[in-house]
Amino acid sequence: MSESKSNSLDFRTALKQGIHLLREAHVPSDTLAAELLLLHVTRRDRTWLYAHPEELLDPQALESYFSLLRRRAAGEPTQHLTGKQEFWGVEFEVTPDVLIPRPETEHLIEVALDRLAVRELRAARDSKLTGEGLTIIDIGTGSGCIAVALAIELPNANLYATDISPAALAIAQRNATQLGFANRITFQESNLLSAFSDAGARYIVPLGTHSSHNFSSSKPRLFDLVISNPPYIGRKESTTLPVEVRDHEPPSSLYGGEEGYELYGQLIPQAALHLKPSGLLVLELGHNSLPAVRPLLETPAWANLLVTNDLAGIPRVLSAERTSA
Ligand SMILES: C[S@@+](CC[C@H](N)C(=O)[O-])C[C@H]1O[C@@H](n2cnc3c(N)ncnc32)[C@H](O)[C@@H]1O
Repeated sequence: MSESKSNSLDFRTALKQGIHLLREAHVPSDTLAAELLLLHVTRRDRTWLYAHPEELLDPQALESYFSLLRRRAAGEPTQHLTGKQEFWGVEFEVTPDVLIPRPETEHLIEVALDRLAVRELRAARDSKLTGEGLTIIDIGTGSGCIAVALAIELPNANLYATDISPAALAIAQRNATQLGFANRITFQESNLLSAFSDAGARYIVPLGTHSSHNFSSSKPRLFDLVISNPPYIGRKESTTLPVEVRDHEPPSSLYGGEEGYELYGQLIPQAALHLKPSGLLVLELGHNSLPAVRPLLETPAWANLLVTNDLAGIPRVLSAERTSA
């Protein structure tokens, strides 16, 4: 089937032609991608689309639709074309400066909330978890999806979000503002936790302010929860990645080093320094990270290690509790 030259196609035919074009280009999830692009250019929702399949698209929408289909067929991710991705039930702006939030990262939020709730029960505190008194840091926040999801679930928590990429932090901050959480999350450019250590404290200037942050103590800042989805793909695996990922997502959000697990080796000891006793560390893992990462937590500094699989049965989340050792 060739792309229609007509300037008056109905929605059903436009969708069919879009799916066909993407299928020919071996685009994964071709039906969903064509549907999302059609809804994007026409500013309609799915319910409308399936209730009005015979409605004609206007010529301008039709032209935009086929232009986006061609870009998708050439490898650009659908989310870069629509500018959005849903995570934890809310819509995040995404650009080529940030990793597109993945569904498996929602397990990180679930594990963090479960383990925080268990901690509260153990301490015989109120069983309704609001985050009251908790200080949380999301390392490598990207689009801000983890920090915002935690802000939604823990309305009284004190939240920090860091990234090494200023461009990513700008998107994260925009998402927080758009979703109404700008005053709940402090965004901070930092290499892992370095800006929160004694040596780095003088560099802490929360984004959007002009004053330096006032640390009342020269001690490292301590947290109740350190959570992170760090870059964990090995550079040596780069040729095996789909073109959408390899050529379109930021390398700093993908690669953790030649092997992939290198950043955990820096992050885990830094987290140990910055967690309160019985504070929690919750980390996302790459599909093959567990054998290299688990031993880093099998030391007296950590207890109650827990591995949580994702829906595909892959060990996806590694969590542990800081001891007082
Ligand atoms: C896998 S992405 C995760 C983004 C987001 N948290 C999510 O789950 O969708 C990793 C993020 O870590 C950031 N990053 C990479 N190296 C870092 C470092 N040394 N310190 C802080 N952030 C880093 C990247 O810029 C990227 O935004």
